[in-house]
Amino acid sequence: MPEAPRQARARAADLQQQINHHNYRYYVLDDPEVPDSEYDRLMRELQQLEADYPALITRDSPTQRVGAEPLEAFAEVQHAVPMLSLGNAFSEEDMLDFDARARKQLGAGASISYAAEPKLDGLAISLRYEHGILVQAATRGDGKRGEDVSSNVRTIPSIPLRLLGEDWPEVLEARGEIFIPRKGFDELNQRARSRGEKVFANPRNAAAGSLRQLDPRVTAARPLAFYCYGYGAVSSGDLASTYSGCISVLKSLGIPVSPELAVLQDVNACMDYYRRLGERRDVLDYDIDGVVFKVNSLAQQAELGFVSRAPRWAVAHKFPAQEALTRVLDVEFQVGRTGAITPVARLEPVSVGGVTVSNATLHNMDEVEKKDVRAGDIVFVRRAGDVIPEVVRVLQERRPEGTRPVTLPSRCPVCDSEVIRTESEVVARCSGGLYCAAQRKEAIRHFSSRLAMDIEGLGDKLVQQLIEQDWVHDPADLYSLTLEQLAGLERMGRKSAQNLLDALETSKQTSLSHFLYALGRREVGEATSQTLARRFGSLRALREADEEDLQQTPDVGPVVAAHVASFFRQQHNREVMDKLLQAGITWQESVPASTPDQAPLSGQTFVLTGSLSQPRSRIKSRLESHGARVSGSVSGKTSYLVAGEAAGSKLEKARSLGVQILDEAALERLLENL
Ligand code: IVH
Repeated sequence: MPEAPRQARARAADLQQQINHHNYRYYVLDDPEVPDSEYDRLMRELQQLEADYPALITRDSPTQRVGAEPLEAFAEVQHAVPMLSLGNAFSEEDMLDFDARARKQLGAGASISYAAEPKLDGLAISLRYEHGILVQAATRGDGKRGEDVSSNVRTIPSIPLRLLGEDWPEVLEARGEIFIPRKGFDELNQRARSRGEKVFANPRNAAAGSLRQLDPRVTAARPLAFYCYGYGAVSSGDLASTYSGCISVLKSLGIPVSPELAVLQDVNACMDYYRRLGERRDVLDYDIDGVVFKVNSLAQQAELGFVSRAPRWAVAHKFPAQEALTRVLDVEFQVGRTGAITPVARLEPVSVGGVTVSNATLHNMDEVEKKDVRAGDIVFVRRAGDVIPEVVRVLQERRPEGTRPVTLPSRCPVCDSEVIRTESEVVARCSGGLYCAAQRKEAIRHFSSRLAMDIEGLGDKLVQQLIEQDWVHDPADLYSLTLEQLAGLERMGRKSAQNLLDALETSKQTSLSHFLYALGRREVGEATSQTLARRFGSLRALREADEEDLQQTPDVGPVVAAHVASFFRQQHNREVMDKLLQAGITWQESVPASTPDQAPLSGQTFVLTGSLSQPRSRIKSRLESHGARVSGSVSGKTSYLVAGEAAGSKLEKARSLGVQILDEAALERLLENL
């Protein structure tokens, strides 16, 4: 191996030091000094240097986190100082007892201040540093013997491979909790779900499972984090005279510690801390299951000693559990505002983390099938943060006789329309669209939106009122509203009622693509509406098209074709469309274009300017339905400028470039003659 020149050696050492410093700023102080890009640049430079001179690679180099080959099994590790467990307090009374016992043992008049920090819900780990270098990481195991998970722990970015500075004891074992923050957990499970893999029941299981991987590359991809809450063997004796002092020393060596650590003067302050943290429990970005209180003075700790395997100087005041067992009464199906059909477990009410839970989501049919949840089952339910409670797992061994697997209903429980579940989608959907009450409000909002029928003044609150009054069941009902009805609504005078009626009237002049888009099929967005309108030219042709025919349309694949065909097949959708046409909605039908190139205006570019009597979006889509392109700026490639009143610089530019200029009347004539 070639010896690295002195300069390269110095640069590598300098880069390592800089990277370690930035890790400390980022993970320990939560106060990065440089943007990620700068950090990445330093890392790349070091990687390059090490590639050029492999002799520069050290075990503690920040490039060496995922170095090791997969293991056959984990080796056993004997803990030099046993890893203890904690006694629990479940009530204020338990806490008062704990404090009274400790004070009694310390002698009359003793006062105790406590260090408090969250009880993290992960797994305990001991990190052994020798001469400042991480040499081993071991799980707690039975407290005396654990497993050597060094290669995996090295992949956790917040755990330093080398301690900061030079002033560390020869041997230092930092102990703490490895956990997965909630966001990382959700992403991990989402990824697993989308790949059809097993999802983790909770962040704790995910952290434990990740650490017990034989291949460190798998662990490296898991979002593991670490906070230190103590130490084992330390060659120099105590690091400070208090627990909080020791934690400060560990932090200064680059080891992440909880930012929630507080020193409290007495047990009453402990109870305040417990309450306040309890209130914030749901907004923290990691799961905690209580607060750990530790007598802060190490001298007092020594005096108090241990009972069996737990110290008398520490206690875990637990929060109410976030998981509970209960019975599934039934599995029902809910219809969301986009038509998504979600299976929901109706539960025998149970208190989970202080909140009564009687429903839990089962996400989708894949989940129901995978977990095999049935009415009558005893299940674990879990709630975390403000997430909807979910069924985690069925206790198969307690399944009563005669249960039946859950099946997806073939018709929507709200409107009885066909339920569609394509192979490519995990979610099943009601095909009722406009007709389904569960989707109605959203459908009306969408129908009136700017890119659809563009009904000005029909806001969210108004739609809500129209539905509550039971006046609007489908969008066509909007066109039968009367001045009397509207003027009687909350915050609506006669004037705004009349304005709305005018806007409804104006909206009747539309285009086929706007109309299709307004029907609000999730799969038929603006672009698809336009291509469908252009290809079929008329609603009649589109209604009669079968899936194969639909698939001949550019950008329409089998999934969209199936949805569109099913929508037009449904009798009630046909009725709503007829009702809309009867209400006076109209547009100019055009000659169908079998391919976009055959559209009469294909290859022509239009620019719209000045104030026009119709919304620009409508003119744009009419032009586009004939194959034209509509652009925002005039250039030599512009075919026509459509100029409304008070047109300005675009008109001048078009004139100077010799572009053909149309007023609105000329545009209408052009469209009529296509
Ligand atoms: S102190 C001698 N502090 O809880 C005391 N433990 O139930 C050793 N834990 O095995 C533990 N957060 O895995 C301590 N802030 C914290 C903790 C904590 C979580 C876990 C740890 C321990 C278990 C005991």
